[in-house]
Amino acid sequence: MAPVYQLANVTKAYSGRQILHINQLDIYPGEILAVVGPSGAGKSTLLRLLNFLEAPDSGSIYFNQQPINHQNVPLEIRRTVTTVFQNPALLSGSVTANLLFGLRLRGQNDGQKEVDEMLERFGLAALRRSPAHALSGGEAQRVALARALILKPSVLLLDEPTANLDPYNAEMIESVIRGINQAHQTTIVLVTHNIFQARRLADRVALMLNGEIIETADTQTFFENPRDSRTRRFVRGEMVW
Ligand SMILES: Nc1ncnc2c1ncn2[C@@H]1O[C@H](COP(=O)(O)OP(=O)(O)OP(=O)(O)O)[C@@H](O)[C@H]1O
Ligand SMILES: [Mg+2]
Repeated sequence: MAPVYQLANVTKAYSGRQILHINQLDIYPGEILAVVGPSGAGKSTLLRLLNFLEAPDSGSIYFNQQPINHQNVPLEIRRTVTTVFQNPALLSGSVTANLLFGLRLRGQNDGQKEVDEMLERFGLAALRRSPAHALSGGEAQRVALARALILKPSVLLLDEPTANLDPYNAEMIESVIRGINQAHQTTIVLVTHNIFQARRLADRVALMLNGEIIETADTQTFFENPRDSRTRRFVRGEMVW
């Protein structure tokens, strides 16, 4: 199947410092691709290129076979991709208002039924009228994910969706991610520090170090028989950074 994303020779620098240099990365429809790597490797920066918030300095990004000009990304392409950021900001107002907001932006004026279903699914039903600013970290993370999923994106970019969550919340989020992928063949790019989570959820895993993708492999190969010695050290927890 043709890739959803094709990146070739993509570079990005900030203040003259090169942050990303990706020779080649293909992301396939319906897969869960985990991107792992140490802090500062460039994982969040990669996601900002994939959701078209930032433009690469050089190289090309194709989305569904179309070359992307980041200065002018068609609305229908932007709407295909939804991101849950590393530290998601909720809007003031209730939990329900947060979920309705995205639907309104996309021109849908009701949606209470979808909101209720989503709140139920995330164990948030009792909090529907709570002010979003009063939520615990785990609750806020679930609201952020629910707010993204209600838009039924065909591409979902998740930046550390379970960071700082207890095992109960992390497990709930993992199972929703898996369920969405299976039910709707959503293409998911999952940035995570947690290699165990990558192993549980991903079809393929990519290791990023210093802005480069060192190795991409199907999950079993990545963990059991990686090509690169740095991947081997990373999955064994031996890499020092
Ligand atoms: N807007 C920016 N201006 C300057 N430097 C930036 C900017 N955004 C990111 N960087 C730098 O780029 C590098 C990669 O950052 P990025 O946030 O992509 O890393 P990461 O892999 O997501 O790390 P973490 O796991 O800690 O979230 C870091 O050294 C960061 O300081
Ligand atoms: Mg990050």
